[in-house]
Amino acid sequence: MTKITNICCIGAGYVGGPTMAVIAQKCPEITVNVVDINEQRIADWNDENMDNLPIYEPGLKEVVEEARGRNLFFSTEIDKCIDEAQMIFISVNTPTKTYGKGKGMAADLKYIELCTRQIARVSKDDKIVIEKSTLPVRTAQVVRSILDNIGSDVNFHILSNPEFLAEGTAIDDLHNADRMLIGGDTSTDEGRAAMEALVDVYAHWLPKDRLLKTNVWSSELSKLTANAFLAQRISSINALSALCEKTEADIDEVARAIGSDSRIGPKFLKSSVGFGGSCFQKDILNLVYICRSQGLQEVADYWEQVIIINDYQKRRFAENIINKLYNTVSGKKIAFMGWAFKKDTNDTRETAAMYVASHLLDDRAEIHVYDPKVKPEQVYSDLIYLTESQYHDITEEQIRELVHVHSDPYEAANNAHAVAVLTEWDEFTTYDWKKLFKGMIKPAFIFDGRNILDHTELKNLGWNVYAIGKGN
Ligand code: UDX
Ligand code: ADP
Repeated sequence: MTKITNICCIGAGYVGGPTMAVIAQKCPEITVNVVDINEQRIADWNDENMDNLPIYEPGLKEVVEEARGRNLFFSTEIDKCIDEAQMIFISVNTPTKTYGKGKGMAADLKYIELCTRQIARVSKDDKIVIEKSTLPVRTAQVVRSILDNIGSDVNFHILSNPEFLAEGTAIDDLHNADRMLIGGDTSTDEGRAAMEALVDVYAHWLPKDRLLKTNVWSSELSKLTANAFLAQRISSINALSALCEKTEADIDEVARAIGSDSRIGPKFLKSSVGFGGSCFQKDILNLVYICRSQGLQEVADYWEQVIIINDYQKRRFAENIINKLYNTVSGKKIAFMGWAFKKDTNDTRETAAMYVASHLLDDRAEIHVYDPKVKPEQVYSDLIYLTESQYHDITEEQIRELVHVHSDPYEAANNAHAVAVLTEWDEFTTYDWKKLFKGMIKPAFIFDGRNILDHTELKNLGWNVYAIGKGN
């Protein structure tokens, strides 16, 4: 197997961008071209000012600074970069289908198909093609069928190499990955050689025992399964948070108690307003869809409950705000602390905040958002997208009238009836909550959707405090 000296990654998003930046950082002898059809995105990756990178991720700008221009390049010249590469990563988006067969459940593979066709059309010599995006099981089959039927005499080796990084900790997750899955054709010499070529790339910084080799299908299914298990833990603890609110139990104490059982472990037991992010919901819907397509109704129903509880948790949080504010929020100002789906990222895909906001907007609340990293237009486009894709009794004009985005948290909360914490940004715990209280309309309410604040102290300051999984 020839040594890899040139890699192309198609898709400069949350997965492709950070992953390729780290590969380039750790493998200085390999040229890494990250390409995208979105010209603005590429321009942002090339921006002189590192604060303008399209993705906010702790530690990312330092990695980009080290490698960009040396062996890391961002470009829109897709054909040229495909042609030059020996190894091509497919890192395009795979959203849930919004139309036709499998609408609302199956993964939309149109972007994968388009770029696979492009690889087939452009390639003049053998390539290793790697699925990096999360995909339904047996997508490699689709990729293979397109490549084998279009590419002239070129040999393509297809690998599955799912990404397990979590946003907000992407760089650390990449530097210190628990494991790196490499799925390939273990039955042929060429297949094994392609897998070894990818092992060599990661072995620049990861110990070999963390590079797990499996067949392609196991690799594809392991990614969906990992996300389904993680999301299931959150839905399990969130389901119990509802019971805690009806009793004297405290969900954080319950989580600590069960988490110290080494068989259960403490991670992913933090009760919240509901999980968001581009992966959990999409991957579970996809798993449910695959199970149903295979006639496995009970298995599909089992996993679907994870989503049903998550929707329930977001709705429950919004309804609690309405109930506590005397059964109506119409014309009342609600300050949202946080909009991103978790801290340390500017990503808002499937964020619980937008679902809570849209429930409150149905009741004609005024929403005042503060988030340290999310841009105002993102908040509007999330809400407009949501009202278009699901039935909500509100127009774009009304959204623009009722929703305001602030760059100062104290201003967001000034003259508000309630504050709702939607994202667990560390800075929220450092605020002067006495000062915030002063600016509020009384009685002042706070709904802590992340259980990050000191509730006893807030109560002493005069706040009416409601938190997830805490009885009053
Ligand atoms: C997830 C997986 O963790 C990662 O391995 C995969 O590659 C992509 O999907 P990500 O969505 O970036 O990563 O973030 P994650 O940290 O898993 O959080 C997902 C959501 O769950 C967030 O909204 C987060 O706030 C929420 N969450 C997480 C909880 O509510 N409680 C927890 O205990 C953990
Ligand atoms: P992820 O979280 O999976 O990385 P993103 O949406 O952040 O998803 O990024 C996917 C990127 O893939 C986007 O920037 C999009 O423009 C790009 N993309 C989609 N289809 C193609 C294609 N055919 N060629 C090149 N880039 C593409």
